[in-house]
Amino acid sequence: MSKITAAIKGIHGWVPDYILTNEELTTMVDTSDEWITTRTGIKERRILKGQDQGTSVIGVHAVKGLLEKTGTRAEDIDLIICATTTPDMLFPATANIIANQVGAVNAFSYDLQAACSGFLYALSTGAQFIETGKYQKIIVVGADKMSSIIDYEDRTTCIIFGDGGGAVLLEPSKEGYGVLDSILRSDGSGEPHLHMKAGGSRRPATHQTIEEKQHFVYQEGAAVFKFAVINMADVSAEIMEKNNLKPEDVSWLVPHQANKRIIDATANRMGITNGKVMLNIHRYGNTTSGTIPLCLFDYESNLKKGDNLILSAFGGGFTWGSVYLKWGYDT
Ligand code: UT7
Repeated sequence: MSKITAAIKGIHGWVPDYILTNEELTTMVDTSDEWITTRTGIKERRILKGQDQGTSVIGVHAVKGLLEKTGTRAEDIDLIICATTTPDMLFPATANIIANQVGAVNAFSYDLQAACSGFLYALSTGAQFIETGKYQKIIVVGADKMSSIIDYEDRTTCIIFGDGGGAVLLEPSKEGYGVLDSILRSDGSGEPHLHMKAGGSRRPATHQTIEEKQHFVYQEGAAVFKFAVINMADVSAEIMEKNNLKPEDVSWLVPHQANKRIIDATANRMGITNGKVMLNIHRYGNTTSGTIPLCLFDYESNLKKGDNLILSAFGGGFTWGSVYLKWGYDT
């Protein structure tokens, strides 16, 4: 019997309408379009405005679009995994909220938190349920409303992040399409360099935590950059070597969009030319769990059945990893 793999059968992305440009940021903090563009590659990012609008709003738009374009009935979905670092609430899971709102009444659903590597962790996890033969239709969402945990008076973080995300549909393949390998890593000693101090069980919200701005992203940018640039490049090269892939065998690198310089270093290390690197950081910034599905969505029309994709990410935790997959359909 041929092996079952988990093929991506559809992708849909969604970003809110509001565009926060570099120009607008210069009116909020001491920065410039030139600094942001040269240091990060970002020109603008999207912001989800309005009361009671959480990450589930992004997820619901992405999943509804995905169901519609793939002609899938919500009742047929077995499982929804939502990778997010900015859940609507600590509980219930944002995936539960999404499942309820899209009518996935037969699905069980849960969140997975691995910061910027969340989508890769969730994709690998979802793929396992397909590979074992247990489930037939799984939706993996990667979405974040980063603006909910960003201090717009801190120029070192507010220029980077944005809101958005996407969702993929996984189904079994017996022809060898889909997730073929993954290398996932984490190192908890990265905690001091990138975290949010309060709002969890260690330090619940108090007047003092709010006054001290402890509910925002704390990042030591240069330290994180050093870890990111080494580990994302290393793990991407490692997955190529492990699967005997030469640069010419790779159709696309789909990198987490944190910093254009990290993406360039990863592509260089893999020997991949610029034309094969998915890039939309200039339009959306870093949407954490959302970057990789948003890239796949933006580039969907360029993808061909059988294309070899390497998906790579690095993020808080630290967490990092690469997934090797064979694209499962022509658009
Ligand atoms: O996705 C999750 C994982 N996160 C990442 O991968 C992010 C990794 N880190 C980075 O992308 C970069 O470190 C940043 C974009 C965050 C910062 O870029 P950098 O080139 O590492 O800058 P830096 O932190 O070393 O700061 C250089 C200078 C400093 O000024 P002095 O001390 O040299 O006078 C900063 O104060 O740039 C200054 N600076 C800014 N200047 C204008 C920092 N932020 C800004 C800003 N505008 N927005």
